[in-house]
Amino acid sequence: MTTVCSAPGKIYLFGEHAVVYGEPAIACAVELRTRVKVKSSTKMSISSDIGTTGLDFEIHPYVSSAIQKMGTPEISVEISSQIPVGSGLGSSAAVTVATLAAINIECGMCYEKEKIAQMAHDIEKEVQGAASPTDTFVSTFGGVIEIPSRKKLDLLECGLVIGNTGKGASPKKTANLVKQVALLKETYPDSINPIIKTIGSFAKHGQVIVAQKKYDELGKLMNINHGLLDALGVCTLELSALVYASRNAGAYGAKLTGAGGGGCMVALTDSQEVVALAIEKTGGRAIITTFTKEGVLQE
Ligand code: MEV
Repeated sequence: MTTVCSAPGKIYLFGEHAVVYGEPAIACAVELRTRVKVKSSTKMSISSDIGTTGLDFEIHPYVSSAIQKMGTPEISVEISSQIPVGSGLGSSAAVTVATLAAINIECGMCYEKEKIAQMAHDIEKEVQGAASPTDTFVSTFGGVIEIPSRKKLDLLECGLVIGNTGKGASPKKTANLVKQVALLKETYPDSINPIIKTIGSFAKHGQVIVAQKKYDELGKLMNINHGLLDALGVCTLELSALVYASRNAGAYGAKLTGAGGGGCMVALTDSQEVVALAIEKTGGRAIITTFTKEGVLQE
């Protein structure tokens, strides 16, 4: 038997960094998926863009940890992904969730989705040293999710363009940026705390505006959120260049997504081709995509 499961990547509509201090955020699954094919075999093997290995905690740490955690007999695992690796779009969460789900079905284990999300979060923590549960939760359940309540909001029926600066985001970089914001907050609490609170307010307003499908209003708040992330010092010239190019091309709004310091930005728009072209002309790699309600699924 063979089982194929796929799991989506994610973006933050609002609230990264502020969420670390208990403020609400909105994270959304996007229709960029990692597919994992699992079948029983005589030999353990893991194949991806970076090569074929056995259980290998250096080259395929997430998949090897997932296999180990599930205690499976010999299997072969084939990975293909539409999510750029190390760009803040949750690629490691997606490959972990999809691998666990495919093994779960192929080997007749009956874990619920909650358990898959929990195991995937544990694996991310083991591999990276620290990880927020947001990526693995959103990749497992899909949709538009308010954090930390995990309330599912209405699906956004608006187009999305992701702009990748090509400058890597990484767990280590994320940890450094989180530390950098913490230091700023500690040094200037009266200046920084209101910024964090204001970022939290976007998720509160956002919940209402998402339900009203007022994408121009959402865009305005995304623009303010981007400005405040810049104020916190996590933006880069390249990210802002892509953000401004998207806005000038008519996007409702645009902001960096994730920890910043490189990685990706997102633009909310119904003119995806025009915005994508503007991003490419400004030196970014554009990915046209949509929001998705589908989390991990069997294909
Ligand atoms: C990183 O994707 C998002 C941050 O808010 C960190 C976190 O929530 O763990 C910067």
